Order: sequence, then C-alpha cells, then structure tokens
Amino acid sequence: MLATLNDIFKMAEEKKIAIGAFNVVNFENILAVLDTAEKLNMPTILAFAQTHEENKVMDLDTIGPVMVLMAKQAKVPVVVHLDHGINLDYIEKSLKMGFTSIMFDGSALPYDENVEMTKKAVEMAHKYNVSIEAEIGKMAGITLNNEGITENRKSDRSNYTVPAEAKDFVEKTGVDCLACSFGTVHGEYFSEPNLDFDLVKELSDATGVPIVMHGGSGVSHEDYKKVIANGVRKINYFTYMDKAGGEGASAVCPTKYFHDIAKAGQDAMQKDVESAMRCFVNMD
Ligand code: 13P
Repeated sequence: MLATLNDIFKMAEEKKIAIGAFNVVNFENILAVLDTAEKLNMPTILAFAQTHEENKVMDLDTIGPVMVLMAKQAKVPVVVHLDHGINLDYIEKSLKMGFTSIMFDGSALPYDENVEMTKKAVEMAHKYNVSIEAEIGKMAGITLNNEGITENRKSDRSNYTVPAEAKDFVEKTGVDCLACSFGTVHGEYFSEPNLDFDLVKELSDATGVPIVMHGGSGVSHEDYKKVIANGVRKINYFTYMDKAGGEGASAVCPTKYFHDIAKAGQDAMQKDVESAMRCFVNMD
C-alpha cells in the first residue's frame, strides 16, 4: 500500500529504527526491495534519483508509474520517493505521477538560495500532502550537481552539516526531514567510512526532525546501529545493492538466456537488501 514518509517516520521513531530508501532503476531492483520488505513485514521506500535520468540509466516517465503501481499492490506500506530532485518542474512531474515523498536538493546552492528554493518545494509538496526532504552540507561522491567531490572520495569535514545552520534551515523552510553530511560518501567507499556519530546526535537534537543518511550502502552494521541510535530514521542505499546484483549476474555468465542473468542479479540484490534492512529495523 502507498504511504507517505511522515506515516512511516512515526513508526520508525517509536521503534527507534530506520527505514531503507532503495534507489530503483529497473524491475529487478523493485522486486528485490519489495519482496524483502514483504518477507520482513516492514515498510520501505522505493526511490528514483533525477541523476539516473541525467545519466541515461532510466527515466522517470517509464519507471515512475511502475513504482507507484507496485507500491500500491505491496502488502506493506511503501513510500515512492523522488531522490535528489533539483528542478521544481521535475519534482512536480513526480508529484503528478503519484509519488508520496520528494527531496529537493539545493545543497550545491548558496545557503540563502537553498532556503528560498526549498521553501518553494515545501509549498509544492505540502499542496499534494506529500512529505519533503532537503539537504544542507555537502557529501563527497558523484551526484548530479557534483556536490563536494574529493579526489580520493574521502569526505571532507569542512563540508559536514553545521547543527546551528541545520536548525535555522528547518525552521525557515518547514521540511519534514533533513539529509545531512557527517562522513558518508555517495557511491563506492575507497577507504573505511569514518562517521561522526556525535554530530548526528547534535543535528537530531538541534533540528527535531528525522535525519537522513545518504551514501548508506557500504557502511558496517555496527555503524548503522550507532547512527540510528543517534537519530537517523531514513537510510539511502543503492551502490552496494547494485554491485551485489552485478556480481550475482556475472556468476551465471556466460549463459544463453537473459532471464537467467536477470534472476541471478535479482536474487543477489535481494540477499544484500535483506541483510541491510534487517539491520535497519533491528531484526538481525
Ligand atoms: P549509495 O549509492 O552510496 O548507497 O547512496 C545512495 C544515496 O544516497 C541515494 O541518495
């Protein structure tokens, strides 16, 4: 069934767990995530990032309606989320399609401009009764707006979210949750993640809204538990699921039929998603 982020944040806060937001760019991703959520009887989030359209991996017009339909048919609450939306018209397109949550990412903009644009996005999302996430601070790794890339893909402390600024941002914009930078990196980790757990707690206390961790895949289960204990309620996860799928599919190659490759990839992704999701919801 379709749910909004605010619906499932209530449950996440009560149980002190995090809900996984898995980026989906194909049917196998969607099946891997929904089958796992149903198996664990837990809510989940299907996310599509504007980046994936820009990179010509998948387009919103094609996958968006499939995400909404499959979320409606699921036996557990499923949020359909636009990840890293950077244009208001792109965001509105997803809302018209029936997405139940959006992110406006103005983190590459100067602070005041980020506030102004986010306010417009909040107004738009709330008109559709949809929850909205925004971001301040910059994360290393490759995203659409190339925010904060560092050559060695280590995150840079000078880009971490500042609690006083986060508080001001939430008060001025009225966002429902906030993506923050505290040491994670989008994409593959080339060195051990080194997260600032105290900062997560400070951000949670300062803002009073759920904190969102981007660059969630590739982080140890021990670290997931620490950030969740300190206020992270949504964890964005993609790269290591996709990598697991690639490895699973490669293991059956060469093979004659594509459906064997797709199934092997899906099964491998499902295993990876299950391991992460069990940890996020305290079932491991
Ligand atoms: P990873 O691909 O690093 O897991 O990050 C996903 C993400 O943060 C999407 O917004």
